[in-house]
Amino acid sequence: MRIVTCLVLSLLLFPAAERAHAGDLSEVLAQCAACHGVDGIAKSADVPHLAGQQELYLFNQIKAFRSGARTHKEMRYMSRQLSEAEMREIARHYAAMPR
Ligand code: HEC
Repeated sequence: MRIVTCLVLSLLLFPAAERAHAGDLSEVLAQCAACHGVDGIAKSADVPHLAGQQELYLFNQIKAFRSGARTHKEMRYMSRQLSEAEMREIARHYAAMPR
């Protein structure tokens, strides 16, 4: 019972870190999909496709948005919630998708 309470508390306090441990990215990916498409193919002309892109490139871009080195309002906001492990996982996820 105490363990469960701890888990719930840590989920509330460290959502990004805990998600990375649990390996559950579906919640985050659903947010990305709103713009980049469920299949990594964006519907809107001003949003880049992510499917089949180089894994390292994707990782570096998300990191750059997070640090502010690459500026974009929405992507800054989206990447702020991600842990390093999640960024790696997301990059792998989109890189593995067929274009
Ligand atoms: C509100 C819409 C929106 C959401 C939500 C969104 N993105 Fe983006 N994303 C964009 C736009 C627009 C760009 C292009 C930015 C630019 O012009 O520099 C972009 C760029 C990117 C790039 C760089 C692609 C490239 O070819 O350089 C990556 C990687 C990326 N997004 C990943 C994500 C991930 C991962 C999520 C979810 C955590 C996400 N995006 C959520 C709109 C969005």
